[in-house]
Amino acid sequence: VSGTPEWASEVKRLARERNATILAHNYQLPEIQDVADHVGDSLALSRIAAEASEDTIVFCGVHFMAETAKILSPTKTVLIPDARAGCSLADSITADDLRAWKADYPDAVVVSYVNTTAEVKALTDICCTSSNAVDVVASVDPDRDVLFLPDQFLGAHVKRITGRKNLHIWAGECHVHAGINGDELTAQAMSHPDAELFVHPECGCATSALYLAGEGAFPADRVHILSTGGMIDAARVAKSKQVLVATEVGMLHQLRKAAPGIDFQAVNDRASCKYMKMITPAALLRCLIEGKDEVHVDPEIAKAASKSVQRMIEIGT
Ligand code: 13P
Ligand code: SF4
Repeated sequence: VSGTPEWASEVKRLARERNATILAHNYQLPEIQDVADHVGDSLALSRIAAEASEDTIVFCGVHFMAETAKILSPTKTVLIPDARAGCSLADSITADDLRAWKADYPDAVVVSYVNTTAEVKALTDICCTSSNAVDVVASVDPDRDVLFLPDQFLGAHVKRITGRKNLHIWAGECHVHAGINGDELTAQAMSHPDAELFVHPECGCATSALYLAGEGAFPADRVHILSTGGMIDAARVAKSKQVLVATEVGMLHQLRKAAPGIDFQAVNDRASCKYMKMITPAALLRCLIEGKDEVHVDPEIAKAASKSVQRMIEIGT
């Protein structure tokens, strides 16, 4: 079945039959991206899910993304081809952890990255993604404390840009991005002196990239800290012939499509998210045939979570 033209036309036929739209995150396998109706970053896909006119959303991504789609469209059927596709970052904070943290800062505004469970979103004031995290934090009254969770590297990036001293950051991380380390990035950047660098803010190396630029090790305009969607926009206007990409390797597929004249290379070609890759061509086909796995969110939790998610999709680009 895998990724053949017959597979693709069967997927499209079954999707039409179910009145379903297929959404795929930028980290999905190339054949999944190519068969999807929409490919994008977390924020773009949330917006599309919220406005979809179809009865069913088939979410090719990880579980929290499908859950977010269900929160935004509670009356629609939301399917994920494999419900075991989790996220190590979302697992780094539980609702009980957050309750305890909020008790220490009762007046704080809670800003949660969208990579969290529905229960955590329900205890959150505003959600954000990597593309609007800075705008979301900047929208909060400067005198209020902010609890930012769960990603420590994205939190450090937001703190650097906004200059907020009252931003408290949870110590979570994504195992894939944390594994793209500063030494690797430095070595690659030094051996490819003409290449630009696209770095996702979840990366452990984002701080060292900026530090090296600040130290004059390479020009500051070579380094771009970007969400996955931001990388596509930047690729379309990039001037250099080569770009080093520090994020999950699935990203290279859309980048190469967006700017075929540029040589995109992964800073770490082992940076593959095993959860994203659970959405195989066979799993997508099974999902459309059997209508499984269906994503459910407790209605009370969904109601509370939808406020914070709604605010996220209203803020920023
Ligand atoms: P964005 O699509 O928001 O850039 O995020 C990436 C991510 O790590 C999702 O797992
Ligand atoms: Fe989660 Fe990291 Fe995988 Fe993204 S790449 S889904 S943050 S584990």
